[in-house]
Order: sequence, then C-alpha cells, then structure tokens
Amino acid sequence: MDEEILEIKKYPDPVLKKIAQPVEVFDDELKQFVEKLFASMHAHDGVGLAAPQVGVLKKVAVVEYEGKSYVLINPKVIDQKGTQDAEEGCLSFPGIYAKVLRPQWVKIEAQDEKGETQIYEGEGYVARAFLHEMDHLNGKVFIDYLSSLKRNAIKKKVSKHTGGHF
Ligand code: NI
Repeated sequence: MDEEILEIKKYPDPVLKKIAQPVEVFDDELKQFVEKLFASMHAHDGVGLAAPQVGVLKKVAVVEYEGKSYVLINPKVIDQKGTQDAEEGCLSFPGIYAKVLRPQWVKIEAQDEKGETQIYEGEGYVARAFLHEMDHLNGKVFIDYLSSLKRNAIKKKVSKHTGGHF
C-alpha cells in the first residue's frame, strides 16, 4: 500500500475511545498530516476521517462532501436545529450501518490547517458527517447512540469478523 495512506484503526481498537488533545501548533507537520488524512479518506472511499481513527490523538478531522473539502481542527458546535434519523457508517466499522438520530442543521466553528477560524454550516448529510467526525475527537463512536441490544449485536458481529474470540 502507498506509504502516504494511513492504516485505519478498526473497532474495538482502544484508541477510538480516547479523547483527542487540542491542536496548538499549526506547522508544516500538521499540514502534511491533514493531507495524509484526506489521502487516506479517499483511498478508503470515506466522506470523513478523524485523527484518532489513524491512531493520532489530536483534534483534527476532515470531511469531503459534494466536492467541498472541510478541515476541522479543534471544532465545536455553536448552533444546531432540528433532528434527522438516518443510516450511518464508519471506516472503523467496515460493513456496519445503523440509524442514528442527529441534529438536521449545525453551525460549527473550527480552525483550518493555517490556524484560521472558519465557520461552517451544514444541513442533512454533511451536518451528520461533521458531528460524526467531531464525536471521534471526543472518544465517541456511532454505536454509542444505539440501544444496548443493538450495540451488543454489532459487537458480536465485529468480534466474529476480527477473530476477536482468540
Ligand atoms: Ni467514523
């Protein structure tokens, strides 16, 4: 595999449950890391990827939707409206999809790779993508929203696929 492509950590890798640290230094290393995140997201056909998913505990995530690229560094939700209930997946849970209730519209504030503050508004699918990636930065994964019954069924399925019984 191309060395620019980072390995995606799969659930139940413990790094997915850890809280990422805020980014304070906006240097070339960070820019290169953001590029690698985009390259890795493209290589895996994702619409979003967060640093903890490649084992890096920094508040950095990327989203790409309808040809628009978003760099989310130290992101936070500043406003939200409505609700939407739709199916969601995750590169750390290959082949697993589940319905998750999320706000229909969000306004977020994030820094870009230069450290400049950006405001993004997103509705529907892209709002969902922003929130999903921001959850990753806080050690949260989408199955945490499900009932324990559904979550346990997914855990069972994942452990079968990964040979987790050994
Ligand atoms: Ni994900």
